[in-house]
Order: sequence, then structure tokens, then C-alpha cells
Amino acid sequence: MKVLGIETSCDECSAAVVEDGRNILSNVIATQIELHRPFDGVVPELASRLHTEWISQVVNAALLQADMTVNDIDAIAVTSRPGLLGSLLVGLNFAKGMVSVLKVPFIGIDHIRAHLYAPQIENPLEYPYLGVLLSGGHTVICRVDSYDSVEVLGTTIDDAIGEAFDKVAKHYGLGYPGGVMIDKLSQKGDPYAFKFTSPKIGKGYHPYDISYSGLKTAVINQLEIFSTGKEATPENIAASFQRVAVGMLMKRVEKALEDTGLTRISAGGGVAANSLVRSSLKALEEKGFEVSFPSLKLCTDNGAMVAGLGYRYIADGITSGYDLTASARVSAFKKS
Ligand code: KG4
Ligand code: ZN
Repeated sequence: MKVLGIETSCDECSAAVVEDGRNILSNVIATQIELHRPFDGVVPELASRLHTEWISQVVNAALLQADMTVNDIDAIAVTSRPGLLGSLLVGLNFAKGMVSVLKVPFIGIDHIRAHLYAPQIENPLEYPYLGVLLSGGHTVICRVDSYDSVEVLGTTIDDAIGEAFDKVAKHYGLGYPGGVMIDKLSQKGDPYAFKFTSPKIGKGYHPYDISYSGLKTAVINQLEIFSTGKEATPENIAASFQRVAVGMLMKRVEKALEDTGLTRISAGGGVAANSLVRSSLKALEEKGFEVSFPSLKLCTDNGAMVAGLGYRYIADGITSGYDLTASARVSAFKKS
């Protein structure tokens, strides 16, 4: 079954064709990064306008690369939540238009579940496993029992991890996108130049919940308090922030693995492209865990993860109707 996947939830306009949930025939990503760069962040109105201009060419390119015509499409999967509403609506309505002509089944896909599914395309793990979703809008540690069954163990209680990277980078003018620039600068910095502390979380939260707002504020407003006397270069600030941000995450991941007894772990989302996140997760293999994360192209937003997950639903007979609407909100994950 060849599924066309469409992803327009934020600033990447992407379409892909994936066969039987695993075989990527094409994965075209038209990034808007350069067009949002002057604003140091995604401008929602600009994003949706660009999606409207680009979507038909992006879908055409995905079909061309897969050596297909529209008539070879067996089903369509499209991100319908969460994300920027205007951007989501472009992809969703384009998909509905195609479905009305092609008369193929279609399914609305949750973007977070798609990120969690991405590693399953290239390096599938057996269920259940610990899922770690690290993106610009979400930070979720969860137990994944199947492609559709996700139990949230912990989330950020304020900023998402990618958001913290982006805000720190923006404050210090490190470049855009912030996460990528911090990762690059960190390679040349001293991770112990600033000894930022990881904030404690108050009562009423889950043990795997995490807070990035305090760390972000410390890095932006309290450099001198945490200084070890080393120079406040962009490299040193980036490396010290990244060490603590990833360390906080890994502490919770390791505790969740210990408490749940899960032996497999999988990460997805834009920040799963971070070199320290990847090396820290990889190091868990030495402790006997099976670790899987997507290649860099499948970490950030892409149509292949949407098509891949869409296949699973459609193969199980689960489809959406024309009444499907886009939603900016996160889906209702089960929280234990
Ligand atoms: O998953 P994604 O493409 O979009 C969302 O669903 O949010 O994630 C985007 C986030 C941004 O915050 C970006 O700065 C971050 O992923 N990111 C990184 C890296 N590459 C992308 N953060 C740290 N290190 C990277 N190498
Ligand atoms: Zn995403």
C-alpha cells in the first residue's frame, strides 16, 4: 500500500510516499527556514501563506520522485493536530481535495504520534518501549505500547526543550534555528564554563516531569551567578546550557527506564537530532538497552513519518471522514 503523507503543521511543507509503512519512496521537505530567519522565529501568517503557495508543487515532487502519478496513491495521511492552525488547514484541505477526486481512504494524523513513530520506519523496535519526544513544542517521556497507544509518564511543565534552545539562542543572537546553532557552537565550547543547576520541580508533578523555564532564565539573566570564571563566549554558554538541558532529560529517562523495567527506548522530534542527545541515548546501549532514533531527516518535521504512521491506521481499517478538522491543541494522551 502506497500512502501519500502530507505535513504542514509548522514551517516545513512536506510530502512523502511510503510503501507499507516502512519503505520510503520519496520524502520532499520544502523548508521555510530562510524566510522566517529575519524574524528569528516562525511567523504563523507567513507560514500558512507559504504552505498555500507551495503545497501542490511539493506533493507533485513527492509523486515524481516516487515515480508515480496520483492514480497510484492507495491512501492519504495528513497531519491534523497539533500545530499552527492556519498551517494545518492548508495540508488538511489539500488532502481532502485529493481524496474527493481519488476516492481513496484518508486519515488525520497526530503530529506527536508521528514523531514517536518515525524511528519505527528505519530501526523498528518491538513494543513496548520508552518513547522520548523532543521538539520545538513538546517534551514527552512516555510508554509506547503500540503505534496508537501512548501513556504519558512525564512532560515539560513550562517550556519545551526545543523552545528553551531557541529562546537562549535568540537572546544571545546565536542564529536561527536556535537549536541547530547551539549544537554547533557547543562542539567548540567548555560545557563546564558555567555550572547551571537543574531546577527542582515542586509537589503535584510526576517524577518524570521536567521544567526548562528556570534553566532558560538562568542562562539568559544570571550568567554571572553560575560562572566559573571562564569567558562568556557563545561557545561556552551554548555548551554549558546544552550539557545541563540534556543532563536533566537523561536523568528522567534513566529513572523512567529503571521504574518501568522497559528495556527498549526510542527518541524522535527535532531535538533528537542534537548530537549530545544522540550520544547520551546511544550510551544506554552499553547498559544493555536497545536504543533507536531516526536519521536526521526523519527527526525534524517530515511527510514520511506521517505516511508511515498513516499506513498502520489504514491497514487496521481506521480512517477519517470529511468532517475531520484541524486542531492546534495536543491530542489527549493518557497520563498515568
Ligand atoms: O520536531 P520539530 O522539527 O518541530 C516541532 O514539531 O516543533 O522540532 C523543531 C525544534 C526546534 O526547536 C529546533 O531548534 C530543534 O528542534 N532542533 C535542535 C536541533 N535540530 C533541531 N535542537 C537541538 N539540536 C539540534 N541539532
Ligand atoms: Zn514536529
